Amino acid sequence: MSRLLVVSNRVTIPGYSASPGGLAVGVLAALRQSGGLWFGWSGTTREPPAPEPEIIEKEGIRFVTIELPTAQFELYYNGFCNSSLWPLHHYFLGAFRYDAREFEAYMDINRAFAAALVRQIAPGDSIWVHDYHLMPLAGLLRAQGVQARFGFFLHIPYPNIALLRVLPVFAELVRDLCQYDLVGFQTQEDLEGFQSAVTGVFHDEAVIGADTIELAGRRVGTGVFPIGVDVAAIAAQAATAAREDEQVKRLIAGLLGRKLLLGVDRLDYSKGLVERFASYRTLLESSPELLGKVTYIQIAPPSRTDVAAYAEIRDALEHAAGRTNGQYADTDWTPVRYINKDFAHETLTGFLRVANVGVVTPLRDGMNLVAKEFVAAQDPEDPGVLVLSSMAGAARELSDALLVNPYDRSAVALALRQALAMPLAERRTRHAAMLQVLRENSIARWCGRFVERLGADQG
Ligand code: F6P
Repeated sequence: MSRLLVVSNRVTIPGYSASPGGLAVGVLAALRQSGGLWFGWSGTTREPPAPEPEIIEKEGIRFVTIELPTAQFELYYNGFCNSSLWPLHHYFLGAFRYDAREFEAYMDINRAFAAALVRQIAPGDSIWVHDYHLMPLAGLLRAQGVQARFGFFLHIPYPNIALLRVLPVFAELVRDLCQYDLVGFQTQEDLEGFQSAVTGVFHDEAVIGADTIELAGRRVGTGVFPIGVDVAAIAAQAATAAREDEQVKRLIAGLLGRKLLLGVDRLDYSKGLVERFASYRTLLESSPELLGKVTYIQIAPPSRTDVAAYAEIRDALEHAAGRTNGQYADTDWTPVRYINKDFAHETLTGFLRVANVGVVTPLRDGMNLVAKEFVAAQDPEDPGVLVLSSMAGAARELSDALLVNPYDRSAVALALRQALAMPLAERRTRHAAMLQVLRENSIARWCGRFVERLGADQG
């Protein structure tokens, strides 16, 4: 097996970063196997950045991180990545903007990644690049003569060409992705979006197959690799946290026996929180028997706070939570507890375990690992019910959840009511089916399938 180099904007170093979530756990496992290296941004910006990367060896893995220049980072991260690519790929044209300077900074940061990474690459390495921040990387490294095998996995959705083409530089980015040997997506729909984009750029020069794209002189492997979770580890963590974690105990005590509806999301407009709050309000309006009997806790740690659309969504949610509580709260009942802070991953799994209903209703999501973690964290003997948006990649696998259109507030309210009233036998049947799906496509398998195919696909 060749050495694996993983590249991503953020790097999770065990013992340094907050306790690793799904992706980090999977990547770390794959890297341990191959004695690999994880390369990315250090989390620090400076003018000028430190000239040398920081290198940490841990658990047989080399973590190599670089500082980035402050002003350029701002244009790259808040600008092109999260004000152009993120909204566009999540179908939010209202939040989309394009600024040529931001795209130039995106290219400059990718060049900085390539310049530092090239010094770490040895002959025979396989390089696995993650996510929308780094699409041009393979092309930049190939231009420097690097002859490694390059794989790319997109964690977010890939839209159809009909939408993608509003981005003035879409063709450059499609060409960039075609520089990889293997390009992986979360769902078939995302792969088809990419295929439509390749046809839009290359026309008859591209021959699109089920899992390859033939271009003049080269072949790009493509595939669907839905990211999974470590079911056994989450189940064990959740059971322990539910028994021992002080914050989980406090949460349980605070419920006073009421049923718990729980959402855990980054504070992002794509997560559909405004619509979710409205659906909960509809539930309370339409089900007076539930007043005082249920509590909805929404954990939403702030994210990308320097991007205007994120500040706007935060205001809207504060307003919505205040309105519902103002109308329905009583001296001993707060219908919505809206919490803008993050918790350790272990604690979150404990929260997920004790929830009666997992509310995961993004307007658009590449996968949504919270949905999968909710299923893995539940007690199989007495499981809760997952209410899941059909717009999340996870809905393709978790068809035994109660699937909803997050824009339809009365349908979501109905599903929440159905979830709260669901008999034990049905909860068990649905949960067992979903658990089985998750076991078959664990995070280890996701990593294994991608890395194996990257090695095997000798275009
Ligand atoms: O969903 C895409 C993603 O990049 C995840 O991998 C990550 O957890 C999340 O967005 C957070 O993004 P950021 O690095 O901007 O905080």
